[in-house]
Amino acid sequence: MQDVDSLNLVMILGSLREGRNGERVARYVSEQLAKRGHRVHILDPQEIKLPLLTVPFHFRKAEDMPTLLAETNRKIKEADGIVLVSPENNRAAPPAITNFIDHFPPTSYKCKPTGVVTYSTGIYSGIVCAQQLVTMMTELGSPVIPTPVCIPTVHESMDPAGRTNNEHIVNNVAKMIKGIEWYGDAMRSQRKKFGLL
Ligand SMILES: Cc1cc2nc3c(=O)[nH]c(=O)nc-3n(C[C@H](O)[C@H](O)[C@H](O)COP(=O)(O)O)c2cc1C
Repeated sequence: MQDVDSLNLVMILGSLREGRNGERVARYVSEQLAKRGHRVHILDPQEIKLPLLTVPFHFRKAEDMPTLLAETNRKIKEADGIVLVSPENNRAAPPAITNFIDHFPPTSYKCKPTGVVTYSTGIYSGIVCAQQLVTMMTELGSPVIPTPVCIPTVHESMDPAGRTNNEHIVNNVAKMIKGIEWYGDAMRSQRKKFGLL
């Protein structure tokens, strides 16, 4: 892979479940991004406990803005790209991730790329969730890197430390990172040119 300027990325997780497999996926992907010199802020709904949406960030008055919401929005707004790491619940994107995304305004996501990574303990790999996340991020003005990374039988193909030698995972994550780098760098230049930075 070609050398690229370091990107500032946020990674949003889609599971709150105790003993979640998502941590191994998040570890693997964030380590691969770090190896390429990128900074990754993990936005974990287990730590950033946002309630089910009543008032979105962009409908609040400044004096009525919870610090957690303001701080999380700042991280998304300052990011050059977004990575979503999520399981699939009943053939759908889980509320942990859709509710999290919904809290923040389209202006925080737009004109920066999204990489989608889904996983499952079954053979289906979360592809339906991936498609729903593609639709969601497109609506928010964030182009999604083609071909999401969809990981079946995650508990067997990755260990708890996030190690894998599964060729499908290794190659597809590398491809997704290459896409984030290309779009992330290009869109950062364009945001600067059009005064969106
Ligand atoms: C409520 C629920 C619904 C699920 N639905 C699906 C599904 O639709 N498709 C699928 O492939 N796996 C499904 N699974 C299995 C998940 O892929 C598996 O539990 C996965 O490890 C969840 O991610 P986590 O461990 O990070 O929480 C479901 C699991 C739960 C708990």
